[in-house]
Formats: sequence, C-alpha cells, structure tokens
Amino acid sequence: MQPRKIVLDDRETPQHWYNIQADLPVPMPPPLHPGTRQPIGPDALAPLFPMALIMQEVSRERWIEIPDEVRDIYTMWRPSPLYRARGLEKALDTPARIYYKWEGVSPAGSHKPNTAVPQAYYNKIEGIKRITTETGAGQWGTALSFACQLFGLECMVYMVKISFNQKPYRKAVMETYGATCIASPSDRTEAGRGILAADPDCPGSLGIAISEAVEDAVKREDTHYSLGSVLNHVLLHQTVVGLEAEKQLQKAGEALPDVVLGCFGGGSNFAGIAFPFLRHKLLGEKDDMRIVACEPASCPTLTKGPYLYDFGDSVGMTPLLPMHTLGHNFVPAKIHAGGLRYHGAAPLASHTLKLGLIEAAAFNQVECFEAGVMFARAEGIIPAPETTHVIRGAVNEALRCKESGEEKVICFNATGHGHFDMASYQAYFSGQLEENYLTDDMVQANIRKMGDMPKP
Ligand SMILES: Cc1ncc(COP(=O)(O)O)c(C=O)c1O
Repeated sequence: MQPRKIVLDDRETPQHWYNIQADLPVPMPPPLHPGTRQPIGPDALAPLFPMALIMQEVSRERWIEIPDEVRDIYTMWRPSPLYRARGLEKALDTPARIYYKWEGVSPAGSHKPNTAVPQAYYNKIEGIKRITTETGAGQWGTALSFACQLFGLECMVYMVKISFNQKPYRKAVMETYGATCIASPSDRTEAGRGILAADPDCPGSLGIAISEAVEDAVKREDTHYSLGSVLNHVLLHQTVVGLEAEKQLQKAGEALPDVVLGCFGGGSNFAGIAFPFLRHKLLGEKDDMRIVACEPASCPTLTKGPYLYDFGDSVGMTPLLPMHTLGHNFVPAKIHAGGLRYHGAAPLASHTLKLGLIEAAAFNQVECFEAGVMFARAEGIIPAPETTHVIRGAVNEALRCKESGEEKVICFNATGHGHFDMASYQAYFSGQLEENYLTDDMVQANIRKMGDMPKP
C-alpha cells in the first residue's frame, strides 16, 4: 500500500525556528520611524511588543530555540501531517507527485496558532495582562483567543466588518476561548470613528483593524498588540511548518521538492513552508527549485504592487516597512478570502521576491473555489477560501506536468479548513461570486494618492 499521510512523532516537533535573515545574500533594509523617516531601533517597538519578540524581529541568528512551554503546547497538534495528495493526482491525471502540509488540524483550524502561542507566551513572561489584535476572516483572532486563554491573558479582537457579517460564528468561537470580538471600523477608537465619519458603510480592511488594535494597545500600560502576519518574528514562528515538511518528504523517500507553494495574505504561512526550503536553494543544493506565492487577483500585492516603504496599517501609526504594497489607503474588494485582503506584504517575502529568489502568481476567486471544490472531492478536506488560492496554484503546476510529462514533486501548505466559510461556497455554487481584478492603472492611481513614500 502506498502511504497517504507521513507523520512524525511528538518528540520530532522542531526544537528551533529557522531565521532566514542569517542566510540572506543581501540584508534587509531597516524599518523607518513614521514621523522622522529615520531607521528605528528595537526600543521604538517596546510599547507594542515584548522585548523577546523584538529581539527575534532583528536577530541574525540562524536557529532560535523554541521554549519548552511552547513546544509542549505545539504537541497538541504538531507535528502536523504531510499528505501525499493521491486523490488529487488521480483527479488531475498528472505524473506530478503532490504533497500538502495540513495545518487545519490545529485547535483553531489553521496555521495561525504556530505564532499565536509563542506571542502569548512571551507577553505573559513580560507581565502583560491583555493583548489586542485585528483579524480578517477570523482565523487569526481565533488562534490568538485560544493562545491567550492558555496563558490567562485577556484578548481583544477587532474583526474586519465585512468578515464579521459574513461569518457570525467566528465571534462565538472567540468568545468560547474567552476573548472579546467587535466589528471594525468601530466607535471605540479614534481611528475607527474617523473612518466611520468619512464612510459609515465602510466594509473595513485589515489595515483599518490594525490601526484600531494598535491605538487600543498604546493607550494602556497593561496591554500589548499582536500581529498575525507580516513581521519577521511571525514568519519565523511559522517555519515549524517547512522544517517538519522537509523531514516528512525525506521520510517519503523524496529529495528536495521542485515547486513549493503557499497562499499569500501578509506572508506568514508562505514563509513558513518556503523559507526552510529556500535555505537549501541558497546553499546551492537545488538551484532550480521554484517557490511560488499565490495571491488574489483583487489584492495583487506581490504581482502588481511597487516595492516602497509603507505603513502596516491604514491610518499610518506603525513604522514604515519596506514592502510590496498597494498603498496603506487601499480597501480591497469584498472577496471571501478575508485573510488575503491586506494591502502590503511581509518585508522578508518582499525582499526575497526583489532578489529573485521566489516568484508570485495571482488568481481570481472563482478559479480558486473551482480548485477548492475539486480538492474537497478528491481529498475530503473542505479548504478555507484563503487556502483555495494555493490549491489553484498547485493544480496549475500539476496540469503543466501533465502536458510536459514531467514527474515533478510539488509541495504546498494547506493552511486551514473552511467549515466557517460555507456561505462563500454557497455563493460559488449559486454563481454569485465575482471575478475581481485590480489593473496596473488602478494600483498606480492609488499609490499616487499616498504622495511621496521613501524607496528602500
Ligand atoms: C486559512 C488562512 N490561510 C492563509 C491566511 C493568510 O495569512 P498569511 O499570509 O499570514 O499566512 C489566513 C489569514 O487569515 C488564513 O486564515
């Protein structure tokens, strides 16, 4: 019998996270102060994050030890299984061998607890009592609620209004884990009130929700802010995914994969699967390995956004980060993949794209749901709308192999289940999903509205 899932023992949960900053051929440009536009040091981030995370943000150490308490909690769902997608291979009639890492086995149902748990842990040991955050589709808010509960911390979640209305049960899930969840923009913050005054029907965006959560955190001594993607330390925590996948592929008798893919919102799951493999490419062990970020055509940050310094939030409170961006003022179309509706891209992912080490592809939501339904029927798992983007990317790669007859090894990160997203599947089946695209002209028009932004 051909193995279908490749599993590791609890004791094989990684002991270290992999920090790609140690191996980059060109170092990253520094973040800038939002006012002075001068490089900032670790102290500037101290009102928002615990020092341990700030040190991880700037570290050049290759391997960073995972604390025992965090590893112990990780074993609630880690190591996650790697599946050989035999059903999908058959449905596509492809000679490619397709593998996917299944992160939907976490209690929250996605990859997000891989960073929520260490973030809650480091805040707890620094004496913080309360954490604020934003959430798009609700996966990140759920993960942080779960993690805060484990460490006895209060959790306040600002959820993008369009997703809050599309997914009513997410709030109940977060409340079950003891958190408070409200729709953003809200009237609780100055940022929210300002946006509502200008547009009372604003559907919200991740950038707006970040502004609210940051404002809430800086106002209280006992409170910190936590971000579910984009920042270096978040990407670092997600590398447990790729490190496990590397071992599991070896166990399956495979060499390094030919193509590695992740869907792309802020960049954390993509980096999580990609960076440990990229390390081997940087070491010259497999020069022709392709690493592909799969993003929505309606929010094409990597494929169409210029590489600039921009704010992480909509109002302009965060440091300026070097990244591919559609402009912090950009409010993405109301696609169902709420977790991919972000104007920017992780600086580390943007930097590796700039260096030509990775590539990016954009897909519209109709073709993504088509691939997601095919995956559900072949593999049994109903993927989150975000996850359907990487499935589309992987299916296209496998179909190319069918044409060329190549037996490539394709490995992707299946980030979460779509059990709270069935309204979006309903919309797909009843033909109500729109194919949203953003053109280069639309992107440029929005970038011009921001005025002069520094170039990295
Ligand atoms: C299931 C799922 N996949 C992917 C993402 C995208 O986030 P990131 O790019 O940080 O991995 C999200 C974000 O909410 C998500 O919920």
